[in-house]
Amino acid sequence: MLRFLWESISFQMLLIFLIVFLLVADYMKHRKPKHFPPSPFSLPFVGHIYLLNFSNPQIMVQKLTEKYGDIFSVQMGSTSFVFINGLRMVKEVLVNQGENFMDRPEIPIDREVFSNMGLVSSNGHLWKQQRRFTLTTLRNLGLGKRGLEERIQEECRCLVDAFGDEQGNPFNPHFKIYNAVSNIICSVTFGNRFDYHNEDFQKLLQLMDETVGLHGTIMSQLYNSFPSIIKLLPGSHQTILKNWRLLKSFVKEKINKHKVDWNPSENRDFIDSYLHEIAKVSNADFQEENLVACALDLLFAGTETSSTTIRWALLYMAIHPEIQARVQAEIDVVIGQARQPALEDRSNMPYTNAVIHEVQRKANIIPFNVPRLTVKDTVLDGFHIPKGTVLLTNLTSVLFDKNEWETPDIFNPGHFLKDGQFWKRESFVPFSIGKRACLGEVLARSELFLFFTALLQKFSFRAPPDTTLSLQFKLGITMTPQPYKICAMPR
Ligand code: HEM
Ligand SMILES: *[C@@H]1O[C@H](CO)[C@@H](O)[C@H](O)[C@H]1NC(C)=O
Repeated sequence: MLRFLWESISFQMLLIFLIVFLLVADYMKHRKPKHFPPSPFSLPFVGHIYLLNFSNPQIMVQKLTEKYGDIFSVQMGSTSFVFINGLRMVKEVLVNQGENFMDRPEIPIDREVFSNMGLVSSNGHLWKQQRRFTLTTLRNLGLGKRGLEERIQEECRCLVDAFGDEQGNPFNPHFKIYNAVSNIICSVTFGNRFDYHNEDFQKLLQLMDETVGLHGTIMSQLYNSFPSIIKLLPGSHQTILKNWRLLKSFVKEKINKHKVDWNPSENRDFIDSYLHEIAKVSNADFQEENLVACALDLLFAGTETSSTTIRWALLYMAIHPEIQARVQAEIDVVIGQARQPALEDRSNMPYTNAVIHEVQRKANIIPFNVPRLTVKDTVLDGFHIPKGTVLLTNLTSVLFDKNEWETPDIFNPGHFLKDGQFWKRESFVPFSIGKRACLGEVLARSELFLFFTALLQKFSFRAPPDTTLSLQFKLGITMTPQPYKICAMPR
């Protein structure tokens, strides 16, 4: 009897001891240093997971910004995030103290695919080398020169033809735009474009699109917070990993083909240039695995962002016919119908330029920027940010700041016009700012201007009869419009 009692007590004691031990260990592990940015009450083990409202993630953070202001922290699983709001603080993080926040955190889904290589997820010396090489190579391949402009113009002709085939009937323009935009970065990276009827390439684009959307699912967010457990479960995170592997093997195939017909005296595209760099034996940072990651980064970053912006642009034009008509009037005066739009027209078209900027501001396709990692212990606005802290700079808070924009919630090209001239605004930050800002900004801006003006030169965009178009978004890797059909009426 006594022995039984003793054994049962000791078992309970053991259990209690274990729980207390785990709680203390969890507390020690997540103990925040003095002067860490404030955060709400946190549960043991899971942190602030209880705050997540998956149907509307904006709601929970709304409350936090109201309570804590420009800088606060949230813990998800074993990672804590510091949120940065407002132009002053965002500039402090990305520009003034940019060197201290230059790295990327390791995101479990990305690590599986990119192994911290390439352009978007690499760090330190490796990142610097890849970025510098890529910028130089893009410039040599005609970025900012006549050559690339002509490629985009050629693609504009194809896209205009494809829209014309629809004869003014309602259609979903998504995959035509996706293909056209992707062809620009494909011709730079792989040396060729793909016909819109190429089924293999259309499948690849569908994979990419599906992957973007799935990143917004609960399972993929949980995977990033608790990878070792969630990895064992079925769910959308498994589809994401499978899709990335397929996208990666597409890129690998292209590289292998380049190796077979490689001619050292010729430099057709990004892959050729990289193979040249690999051939210089002294260069340890340039090897094939990195080439795969860089090419995949270019393909993805160069396709998804610009095409999503163009999809938003057509939607805004159909919803605001009076703004569309003013853009077309400017096109008719400056370009006419006889020739294609060219980049040098941009400086004579302040209204069109303002509309494109306003689309980018309002569409806000990367609302929390791409995450950054603190490189060394830093003091930020009086708060202590230890090395290894993840920072999310809230671009929304800058693009919609009530003190910066006259009518932040209204689509108003006037935000970028002063006395009829284009007005550049400091709070226009969709490409981010500082030394690690978007690498493709010049390319993206050329694409947006040429595709947008080429489409509006030839078509008026309208909602299908008896339909109301919606500005509802879908959150994935980027914020995209909900799928929609539109009519492209020939002008
Ligand atoms: C409307 C179009 C685009 C938008 C809004 C956009 C936005 C962004 C943003 C916000 C970042 C993160 C910057 C940071 O961490 O501070 C980024 C990074 C990047 N973008 Fe873009 N982007 C666009 C188009 C493109 C295009 C066409 C390319 C193709 C060359 C591209 C390639 C990249 C790359 C490689 C990075 C990673 C840079 C690094 O980590 O060093 N982007 N972009
Ligand atoms: C980001 O900024 C927007 C606009 O100011 C705000 O509504 C939202 O709550 C902010 N989110 C976070 C996480 O700071």
